[in-house]
Amino acid sequence: MDLKAKFDQFETLNQEAESGGGEKRVLKQHEAGKNTARERIAILLDPGTFNEIDKMVTHKGTDFGIDKLKYPGDGLVSGYGKINGRLVYVFAQDFTVFGGTLSRTNADKILKLQDLAIKMGAPVIGLNDSGGARIQEGVESLAGYADIFHNNVISSGVIPQISAILGPCAGGAVYSPALTDFIFMVEKTSHMFVTGPEVIRTVTHEDVTKEELGGAITHASKSGVAHFTGIDEEQTLMMVRELFSFIPSNNMEEPPFKVSTDPENRPDPSLNHIVPVDPNKPYDIKDIIHKIIDDEHFLEVQPHYAANIVIGFARMGGKPIGIVANQPAYLAGVLDINSSTKAARFVRFCDAFNIPLVTLVDVPGFLPGTAQEFGGIIKHGAKLLYAFAEATVPKITLITRKAYGGAYDVMSSKHIGADVNFAYPTAEIAVMGPEGAINILYRGKLTDEEKFEAVEDYREKFANPYRAAALGYIDEIILPQDTRYKIIQALNMTHNKRKSNLPRKHGNIPL
Ligand code: HXC
Repeated sequence: MDLKAKFDQFETLNQEAESGGGEKRVLKQHEAGKNTARERIAILLDPGTFNEIDKMVTHKGTDFGIDKLKYPGDGLVSGYGKINGRLVYVFAQDFTVFGGTLSRTNADKILKLQDLAIKMGAPVIGLNDSGGARIQEGVESLAGYADIFHNNVISSGVIPQISAILGPCAGGAVYSPALTDFIFMVEKTSHMFVTGPEVIRTVTHEDVTKEELGGAITHASKSGVAHFTGIDEEQTLMMVRELFSFIPSNNMEEPPFKVSTDPENRPDPSLNHIVPVDPNKPYDIKDIIHKIIDDEHFLEVQPHYAANIVIGFARMGGKPIGIVANQPAYLAGVLDINSSTKAARFVRFCDAFNIPLVTLVDVPGFLPGTAQEFGGIIKHGAKLLYAFAEATVPKITLITRKAYGGAYDVMSSKHIGADVNFAYPTAEIAVMGPEGAINILYRGKLTDEEKFEAVEDYREKFANPYRAAALGYIDEIILPQDTRYKIIQALNMTHNKRKSNLPRKHGNIPL
């Protein structure tokens, strides 16, 4: 073969690999409102940075005539590239080849990528669109999944792992994304479930569509499985890029600093009027968040799930931070099962990846009721307590209004290791609210007038931050208008924090 023929052969094979399952299937993919694996990677990465690995790999299956059907790459496009100039590893299941199903061979491709990512300290981003285990390969496919799960677990807390669900993701296949740090879904075109509508109809006789069962809206609002949703693939992949801009490439790195033109010491008098004087009036904690962070840029995580707690990424003075904030505008900001687990997982992510935590507290306590108690609020609430106590990153806490009962302790109090604790003059730090306290102390023993006086007395004595400040549990009482600069200075002061917990195999978080 002469040189030209050799180059031609290379071109032919390359084109064959790049055409996936062929024109007809690509057309079907587009008609379903979906991009191909290669198109998705091109949207996700900086232009021209993708380097493909294992493009010529083919499967080794022999049953059901599959040995006569081979596609270079075998239904998975994998490699490395850049997002905003930073290295990432990416794999994309190609639905046009065997429905993007997992063969032993393409499991090995994912394993190779994960091993490289762990060695080089860069994230793995998985673009999922697959019919699951490749039926023709049987247990070899299942083994491939389990190997990937194992690598997911070993990588957890070492490199960020991000999953975008861009089509079907069913059966045990859901467990790889579930083990990763963040799940993105696309409205209408992506679905996740362990057992599909057909099986559910047979077993429990429930009638449910696949959209109701495992669509993006369901997982973003009901199950809490999805962290972000986009209206289409482009928007979803742009959100992946945005998330990556806040997080480091591995657990040994600092999160990426970004110079901001937003002045660090700008006072904002409008902050003085956000927390209402009436402690029972709601307000939107996001109004405070937007006013104190750099350029009002807040990437909220799980905005539609357990809205009584707000979590997300922002920058202050250029430094990425993780914000955890009770939301008085929803269920009065109460802590319950879902909000506790939502925030606990976020706190642990930030701690694993050196992202300081800024906690804004306005919490009336834990939600009462049999549903919560039977559902295990004791152990789920303990998760948040555990996560904050275990976290060794800088922890800055600001109490804007209520910090009642156990929830005061849980929400990154001084006692569980916060480094700087601020309170507004409107803060109320007490075992419970005035009315509830007086009812318990003097049950049925007071006239209405006496009760009113007792409530006022309690309010004066306890419903303020000064007792806690006198005891050193609050380091400084600040005016709302100064919040931004105060927190930035606290972040700068704690920048070189050195703290580690005692060596152990691992703790035993109440699961
Ligand atoms: C092999 C598969 C396949 C599978 C789909 N295909 N699923 N091939 N193994 N599991 C092939 C189809 O034969 C078809 O090939 C192509 O992929 C596209 O599939 P269609 O059915 O034409 O597409 P669509 O109508 O969009 O439906 C997609 C689908 C459906 C919803 C994913 O194919 C489906 O329900 N598949 C089975 C899903 C499933 O039950 N998987 C096992 C789950 S359990 P051609 O050649 O016609 O293009 C599991 C265990 C994981 O995954 C274990 C981890 C521990």
